[in-house]
Amino acid sequence: MEHKQLKAFPKDFLWGSASAAYQIEGAYREGGKGLSVWDKFVRIPGKTYEGTNGDVAVDHYHRYQEDVELMAKAGLKAYRFSIAWSRIFPEGNGKVNEEGVKFYDDLINDLIAHNIEPVVTIYHWDLPQALQDAYQGWESRKIIDDFVNYAKTLFEAYGDRVKYWVTLNEQNVFMQHGYLMASHPPAVTDPKRMYAANHIGNLANAAATKYFHEHHFQGKIGASFAYSPNYAVDADPENQLAADNAEQMNAYYWMDVYAYGRYPDVVRQWQIEQGIAPEIKPEDTELLEDPHSRPDFMGLNYYQTNTVQANPLKDGVGLAAENTSGKKGTAQESGIPGAFKSAENEHLQKTDWDWNIDPIGLRIALRRINSRYHLPVLITENGLGAFDTLEADHEIHDDYRIHFLREHVKAIHDAISDGVQVIGYTTWSFTDLLSWLNGYRKRYGFVYVNRDEESEKDLARYPKDSFYWYKQVIATNGEDL
Ligand code: NOJ
Repeated sequence: MEHKQLKAFPKDFLWGSASAAYQIEGAYREGGKGLSVWDKFVRIPGKTYEGTNGDVAVDHYHRYQEDVELMAKAGLKAYRFSIAWSRIFPEGNGKVNEEGVKFYDDLINDLIAHNIEPVVTIYHWDLPQALQDAYQGWESRKIIDDFVNYAKTLFEAYGDRVKYWVTLNEQNVFMQHGYLMASHPPAVTDPKRMYAANHIGNLANAAATKYFHEHHFQGKIGASFAYSPNYAVDADPENQLAADNAEQMNAYYWMDVYAYGRYPDVVRQWQIEQGIAPEIKPEDTELLEDPHSRPDFMGLNYYQTNTVQANPLKDGVGLAAENTSGKKGTAQESGIPGAFKSAENEHLQKTDWDWNIDPIGLRIALRRINSRYHLPVLITENGLGAFDTLEADHEIHDDYRIHFLREHVKAIHDAISDGVQVIGYTTWSFTDLLSWLNGYRKRYGFVYVNRDEESEKDLARYPKDSFYWYKQVIATNGEDL
């Protein structure tokens, strides 16, 4: 077979890594920070693995300079991190906490001084607890103004230096885990409430994006979505239909509204029949369809693909929860019959946490997003969660991670050669960090963080073999894999 000439990665390709405030910062009650819903949720017995929490996390709040030094050593061109809303507004709204504003100001300046492009996530799941208490957070339309005010505060404080903004991280995950599977705060299991909260999330997202565009901030803005393309288990048309249901439900329903301002009719119709459709007011449609509410790019968090088959229990599109943070969440497991259900894919290997490993799925994801939305893609997450071993000489031989990432980088290269515009790749994650539900043993980083509490070197950072591999990839702009 003849291979077509591969295009090179673009010269300004954003090779980077990513993190989120709650998973790295710690200092959960320092610097004037208010509590977030996660600060409270992790204290409910049985909610996280062995009760692990982010009180200290990897202490990035105090060690950010050391972390930025390491990023510079790896040659990162970009670093995606999130801002904790409750550091900026301890009460979610009202008075700004200047100490919080300064923390991120210093971080951004430090990144820029090291030639690292900051990519800022505005919301990565740590809602101020005060807003949950005041009006039930995402379930109230009051959050729209508070979210826009928070985003505006960030645009004004950092917009002169930050060129890439991610509004919401994985809305599909925090809504489904929070309101359908009860595995994230506020731990509800109610599809009607989920779709209502999600619609409000979409309005907040659109309003913040619109504000950004109308006020001519320099830069690009978009949301990050956890997209796991759905395959049918075989060519049986019933199973093909099930795969289409899964795409409608778990992908188009979420991404279409960002790109087009409207929900797919197939899902909307099913929601109406089930009596769980969110209320859409005429002014909502106006806001969602406003050209200024359009994102400049699609943020893609890619970890795996799903394989599905028909569920004989039910017609229609059914319900299934996207799963990137732990156990499988399907319609059946949440007690709701659906028209598709998970199936094993015999062609794929699995990670230590049973996630399918599928680099070609990333190429497929990029091509599907490109042909449905015609927007550039920023890959805001991709990586391998695994058990790592710190050797006596402080080395970590994570050849499995190198293999995983190499195959995914090749898939991006192939997608670019196919004609998809990909602007960057921020792997998950730079240092090891807290996994929301799996504690600290599930490691994703290029930098090992020692959590041996007996040792004086607690929280010491050690670059893994993958760190040096990625450094070479970046230095050669993806030529030397
Ligand atoms: C997606 C989330 O954005 C991130 O916070 C999480 O840790 C990773 N996926 C891995 O599950």
